[in-house]
Amino acid sequence: MTKIAVFASGRGSNFRTIHQKIKEGYLACEIAVLISDNSKAGSLEFARQNHIPTFTIVPKEYPTSEAFGKLLLQILTDHQVEYVLLAGYLKMIPENVVDHYENRMLNIHPALLPAFGGKGMYGMRVHQAVFDSGDQISGVTVHFVNNEYDAGPILLQKAVDIRHCKSPEEIAEKILTIEHKTYSEAVKILLEKNIQVKGKRVFFDD
Ligand code: GRF
Repeated sequence: MTKIAVFASGRGSNFRTIHQKIKEGYLACEIAVLISDNSKAGSLEFARQNHIPTFTIVPKEYPTSEAFGKLLLQILTDHQVEYVLLAGYLKMIPENVVDHYENRMLNIHPALLPAFGGKGMYGMRVHQAVFDSGDQISGVTVHFVNNEYDAGPILLQKAVDIRHCKSPEEIAEKILTIEHKTYSEAVKILLEKNIQVKGKRVFFDD
């Protein structure tokens, strides 16, 4: 069975959805390890309850990004991880890990990249910016991770009509439901399709 790792800093609703989709048989893989930087993350609690090995690693406790990356790579190798999913993970992934998992590491972003992305654009900040912009359409982006925040090749995007949303919170709620569906769909593509990445463009057969 293909082994994946999930990285999560917070509540972990995307992580729980992926776990559920595996249980239902929609995704043919196994979550071999959950990595967090936050000992209070809800995702850690859920992983423990479901007997998924967990590691809490605080990047700033390592002298360099490379040292932090070496430790991550050691854990991922020990657990025979083929693919990595970032699900609300707020720290920068070290370059040595990004390079090792080139086109094998996904992130989900709660807007239509390249708009409303980049350093510091996460959580409610994204939805607030979308709300303030007056845009009538937002969405979800699942992309491969490269060495820039939110800028890797896009695997899957879904648009969401937010015309009737009266607050950033309403946008967040509407987007989150679509995130769960889209991330599961993207992981299925990652596991089952022959994917080709040419520059920023991603190709696979439907
Ligand atoms: C999601 O909105 C995701 O797009 C973003 O962080 C949030 C994580 O939510 N990257 P959860 O922890 O999966 O509930």
